[in-house]
Amino acid sequence: MTAVSTPFVAPSTAGAQARLPLVTVRDLRVRYAPDAPLVLDGVDLDLHPGEMVALLGASGSGKSTLMKTLTGFAPISGGTARVGGFDLNNLRRGQLRELRSNVGQVFQQFNLIGRLSVLTNVLAGSLYGAGPLNLLGTFRSEDRKRALELLDRVGIAHKADQEARTLSGGQQQRVAIARALMQRPKLILADEPVASLDPKMSRTVLELLRSIAHQEGIPVLVSLHVLPLALAHSDRIVGLRHGELVVQGATSQLDAAQLAVVYDVDDEEEED
Ligand SMILES: Nc1ncnc2c1ncn2[C@@H]1O[C@H](COP(=O)(O)OP(=O)(O)OP(=O)(O)O)[C@@H](O)[C@H]1O
Ligand SMILES: [Mg+2]
Repeated sequence: MTAVSTPFVAPSTAGAQARLPLVTVRDLRVRYAPDAPLVLDGVDLDLHPGEMVALLGASGSGKSTLMKTLTGFAPISGGTARVGGFDLNNLRRGQLRELRSNVGQVFQQFNLIGRLSVLTNVLAGSLYGAGPLNLLGTFRSEDRKRALELLDRVGIAHKADQEARTLSGGQQQRVAIARALMQRPKLILADEPVASLDPKMSRTVLELLRSIAHQEGIPVLVSLHVLPLALAHSDRIVGLRHGELVVQGATSQLDAAQLAVVYDVDDEEEED
């Protein structure tokens, strides 16, 4: 990505950009096949720089699909979605890779390469969008320095040389976050990043993500299943039910009773 060509950066309007949403979704509809039912149905959503947004919804409500749409992994059937200057409805040739290289992704299962060292896993983040991962072992010294700094930031610099598979889940998730930061992301999407972690580590990881949102000034969208975690660790909450956004507001203005609208009996029966 170059500073001049990227739709993420417009130097002349940098001050004003801080107040503009980075992500703008309007009347978004998604179905996975022409005759399949809508999985997202009329979703409107803005994500602003510097905010940690919790995405709630029962299993199957469309949380992962919404995140996939923002990185071009799910088809848009109607409405619009913009990420930075990228128009997801009309991506030009080569823009998909550029978009994805600017979006840090964090997953429930960490998605590290277990036999490689922690440091190499983080360095892999710097290769995102650079083509096949055949450059392993040829990292620049400044990248190694940055990777170590990021490991220090997430609290596991002392594990840098260990194989990733030997770390605990909480440690692996922090490596995954360091890897995402290595991309210098303009947006972070974390899909159930704490679903495999114990309550204490869940809080640690969510506060880490929130501090990244605030300090880096980027939006962080985090899907969660545990309502109290959303209430304790987000700036804003949005809730999906059956593909529709049924609740949206500042976390400080919401309580568990208001958020119960996200879940209903039918959804609970679908839970695995
Ligand atoms: N690739 C796909 N092809 C067809 N249908 C899909 C695909 N991915 C998801 N779906 C369907 O879309 C709906 C929403 O799925 P999605 O994974 O977005 O839900 P979710 O809210 O992330 O659920 P969970 O909490 O279980 O992760 C489900 O009915 C699912 O079966
Ligand atoms: Mg999901």
